This record gives sequence, C-alpha cells and structure tokens, in this order.
Amino acid sequence: MIRPGRDTDAAGFIALIGTCWSMYPGVKLDVDGEEPHLRALATYYAEQGGAVWASERDGAIVGMIATRPLDGGMWEICKVYVSPDLHGSGLGHALLDTAEAHAIAAGATRLVLWSDTRFDRAHRFYEKRSYVRSGPIRVLHDISNSLEFAYAKPVDGIEVLDAAAAASAEPRLSAILTACVAEGAGVSFLPPLARDTARAFWRGVATDVATGSTVLLAAWSGGILAGTVTLALVGIQNQPHRAEVAKLLVDTAIRRRGLARALMIRLEQEAAARGRTLLNLDTQAGGGAERLYRSLGWTELGVMPGHAVLMDGTLGDTTFFWKRLE
Ligand SMILES: CC(C)(COP(=O)(O)OP(=O)(O)OC[C@H]1O[C@@H](n2cnc3c(N)ncnc32)[C@H](O)[C@@H]1OP(=O)(O)O)[C@@H](O)C(=O)NCCC(=O)NCCS
Repeated sequence: MIRPGRDTDAAGFIALIGTCWSMYPGVKLDVDGEEPHLRALATYYAEQGGAVWASERDGAIVGMIATRPLDGGMWEICKVYVSPDLHGSGLGHALLDTAEAHAIAAGATRLVLWSDTRFDRAHRFYEKRSYVRSGPIRVLHDISNSLEFAYAKPVDGIEVLDAAAAASAEPRLSAILTACVAEGAGVSFLPPLARDTARAFWRGVATDVATGSTVLLAAWSGGILAGTVTLALVGIQNQPHRAEVAKLLVDTAIRRRGLARALMIRLEQEAAARGRTLLNLDTQAGGGAERLYRSLGWTELGVMPGHAVLMDGTLGDTTFFWKRLE
C-alpha cells in the first residue's frame, strides 16, 4: 500500500535510503551533514508545493518517492527508493505511477529527475519509464563524490534526441520496433525480432545521431515514449539538399491519435532547418501509412513489385514517395 509520507517516517526513510546507498561502494549517507531535510521530509516537500509517499510492510518503510514543482510546468521526481528485497516486484512502478499522476494532475508538462551515475539499475528503470538523458552531468561535491545524470520526459510532445538521449531511449524504441515488426510492419525486419537485433539497430541510430548524420525524433503521449521517426541526412556530394525518412513507428496501443502525423510535421521542420528541401521514403504498399503520406502532400513515385519479404514469406510491393519542402 502506498500512503502519504509523514515527518514521523524519518527513521524509516533514512534506513531505506541508507540500505539502497550501501549497495554502491563509495556512496555514503551523512544525514545531518548533507541531508538534514530527511528528518522532516513531508514538511520539506509540502513547503515547496510537492508531496512525498511511503510504502510500508510489517511496520517498516520499504518504498518511497517524492515530487515537487520547479519552474515552467516542470516537476522533479525525487527520492525514488525501493527496498532491495522488493526490486522487481512492481513497487517501483507503482510509486512512480503515484508521483507522476500527482504531478500531471497538478499541471506538469515535463518531468525531470537526477540519478547518481553509479545507480545503473535505476537508469534502466527510468529508461523503461520513457525518461531519456537530458543535458550535462551534475557534480555535487559531496562526501560520496556524486556525479548525477539528468533524465527528463515531456508529458506530451515531440523532441529531437541528442546522442545521450538517443542511447537512453533504446529500450523504449526497441519495444516499439519489436511490436510493429510482430504485427507485420514493413520496416526492414521480420518477426520474431530478436532483442539484441533491435537493440543493435537503435544503438547504430544513436551513433549516427552522435556523428550528425541522422536526426532522431521521439513522441511522448501521456508520459509514454510512444512514437519515433528518423531522418537520414544523405551524405552524397551532389545531393546536399536531400534526406531520407525511415522508421516512422507508433506504439500499437496509441494508434490513430495523430502521433505519426505530428511526428512527420515536426520532421519536415527539422529537415528544413538543416537545409534539406527534398525528402523521400518508402512504405509497404496498401498500408495505413500511405494514406498519411498522401494527406501530408507527399507525391507517389510508383510501386515496386516484390520489393520486400512479408511476414508470411511472400514478396510484397513497396510504394515510394517524395516531397519537396518550400
Ligand atoms: C503508420 C503508423 C506510423 C501510423 O501511426 P498513427 O499515430 O496511428 O497515425 P496517426 O494517428 O497520425 O494517423 C494519421 C493518418 O494516417 C492514416 N492512417 C494511420 N493508420 C491507418 C490505418 N491503420 N489505416 C488507414 N489509415 C491510417 C489516416 O489517414 C490517419 O488519419 P485519421 O486517423 O484522421 O484517419 C502506425 O500505424 C505504425 O507505427 N505502423 C507500423 C509501422 C509502419 O508501418 N510505419 C510506416 C513505415 S513507412
């Protein structure tokens, strides 16, 4: 059960954080020297317009989380701790659901958090929860010599991912790609798509983002990273104005809500901003995406018969489109 945290939970909160930190060499908890607010956490967050929650089992605090508003619709998720014996139990998800729902109900448009660079398990958790790396590392100059990664996600919206964000988006992007391939989408792969193959593909995209040869967009809906599209900036000497669109993918659970359309509109803006005025793409003939591209003003170049293997092993046709950006 998750309940509002109280100042009287202090001993339980401190014990839980101490246990979690002790799993990482060099991470030390000095409550009075560095974390005195832990002595009255409910008051600390209430005074900032935020809140703290606790999960209790057999009289002990086994989980906690807090959130507080920052500027400009941003809310910070803080103090995410689950007792090690309950890792993998779903308590972390339930706690984060509670804090995110509170922040979103209070008007949050963007959620941010800081995580020690050593807390690798937490990073996987945040990435699964659609957070991506955001901006530079923070140096705390504390007794633990802490360096912290920033993670963030918009509640709803589209963002261009830099190399660090692209690398941290890999778990969500792999999940979306795998689901799209499983339903027969013509996006280079055949089902069943092995996890390592999906991961390797997105790692390659992150590398291309780092070299500047690819633009990667991600779309969030209700705090879930639910869609993506890539733009390959063609490196051919006599085609500096051309770019190729690929991997327009939307989470199977969040279809027909305009996410793909929004991604394509933003993609065209990003292409134009980089001086690319001619775009091309191809898509499985007869699929729903054809209708989207036509409605966005793309011109059909033609259909190539038997261009790609379908999930039933037969050869399927592919439609090629182009669009000139004014
Ligand atoms: C194609 C895809 C990206 C569309 O995502 P989406 O977020 O559901 O699309 P949108 O909600 O923005 O739809 C925009 C328009 O596209 C067309 N469209 C999208 N899906 C369609 C479908 N299944 N059948 C018919 N038309 C469809 C419609 O015109 C729709 O407008 P409408 O809902 O007002 O009628 C998604 O179905 C997908 O990820 N498919 C698997 C991957 C894939 O094939 N990608 C294309 C690679 S080129």
